[in-house]
Amino acid sequence: MIVEPNVSLAAHNSFGIVAKARALVRVRSEDDVRAVLREPKLHDEPKFVLGGGSNIVLTGDVKPLVLKVEVAGKRVLSDTARGTVIEAGAGENWHEFVTWTLEQGFPGLENLALIPGTVGATPVQNVGAYGVELQDRFESLDAIDLHTGQVFTLDAGQCAFRYRDSVFKHYAAKEGDFGLAGRALVLRVRYLLPKPWKPVLDYLDLQRKIKETGIAEPTPKQIYDWVCQIRSGKLPDPKVIGNAGSFFKNPTVTPEQCQDIIAREPNIVHYPMPDGTVKLAAGWLIDACGWKGKSVGNAGVYEKQALVLVNRGGATGGEVVTLARAIQTSVYERFGIRLEPEPVVV
Ligand code: EPU
Repeated sequence: MIVEPNVSLAAHNSFGIVAKARALVRVRSEDDVRAVLREPKLHDEPKFVLGGGSNIVLTGDVKPLVLKVEVAGKRVLSDTARGTVIEAGAGENWHEFVTWTLEQGFPGLENLALIPGTVGATPVQNVGAYGVELQDRFESLDAIDLHTGQVFTLDAGQCAFRYRDSVFKHYAAKEGDFGLAGRALVLRVRYLLPKPWKPVLDYLDLQRKIKETGIAEPTPKQIYDWVCQIRSGKLPDPKVIGNAGSFFKNPTVTPEQCQDIIAREPNIVHYPMPDGTVKLAAGWLIDACGWKGKSVGNAGVYEKQALVLVNRGGATGGEVVTLARAIQTSVYERFGIRLEPEPVVV
C-alpha cells in the first residue's frame, strides 16, 4: 500500500476541475483497504471514496484520505434459464463493461450504454437511462467496511435503491443509523441479466429511432447503438467538455401541484409516475427560465441540454456551485419547485 501525497485530481473528475488530494491510496483489492486500516495514523482519518469522478464537484483540495477504487476484473458467474449473473470489479469502466457483456452475448445493459464512470458508482447512484435503472439489473454487491475492514454483501433491498439514490449516498449520524456514505467502499457488483431478453423501448427518444429507421424489432446491439447516438447528440463528452451529466434530479410533484403549474405553463414537460406523483423535466424548467448557454465565470449551462452544467475551461467548483444556486433560485421563483443536485459537492 502506497500513500501518494499531493495528487492532482484534475484527470479524476469528469468536470475537469483542478484540485488535489492531500493523500491518495489506490485500492486494487480489499487487502489495500485493510493495509490502510492497519496504519494507526490512517485508521481514524476521514476517508473519501473516489470512483470514476463522474458525479462530483470539487470545491477545493480534498482533505480526507482519498481511496481511489481500481478493483479490476469481470466474469460470468452463472448462466441459467432465469438469467445470467455477471460480476465486475468496482474500478472497471462502466461503458467498456456494458460493451463487453454484449460482445459476450449477454444482453440487458444496452439502455445504460455510454454512462460515464465506473462499475462501483452504478449502485451508489442507481444510474438510469432510457427506461432502465440499475436496480432492474442488480443482483448483489460486495463492499468493505472502512472502520472494521470486514467485507459484506448487500442485496437490492439492503442497498435501498431510489431514483438516483441508495444507502451509499446517506451519512449515518451515529452507529446503527441508515447510511453508508464514508463508511463503506464498493468492491464488486453482480448484475442479473434476465432471460428471456426483452427490449425496453418505451422511451420517447427510442420510439423516434424506431420511426426513423423502420426497425420495429431491434437487436440489443441496435439499441446500444441508438442509445450511444442519442446520448452523444445531447450530452457533452466529458473528455472534450467537462461535465457531470444531469446536474439536477427531475423533481416530482403531486397531480394537484402539476395541474396548477400546467394552468400557468401549458407546455411543461411532465410524466405521470406509477405511484401517482408526476415527474417534471428539470431540463425543461431550467430552459424555460432562459439558462441555456448562460455562464457564471467559466461554468456554464450546456447549449444542447439545460440540465447539464459544463466547465468551459478552468472553471472552479465554486463557480459551478454558484451557477447551480442561481438556477435553483430562478426555478423556485418562477415555478415554486426546488431542484435537488445530483452530483456530490465535495
Ligand atoms: N428539455 C428541454 N430543454 C432542455 C432539456 C430538456 O425542454 O434543455 C426537455 C426535453 O425536450 C424532454 C425533457 O425535457 O422533453 C426530458 O429531457 P431528456 O429526455 O433529455 O431527459 P432528461 O430528463 O433530461 C434523464 C436523466 C438522464 C438520462 C435521460 C435518459 C435525470 C436527472 N436525467 O434526463 O440521466 O440519460 O433521462 O433516460 O434523471 C444523468 O443522470 O446524469 C443522466 C444523464
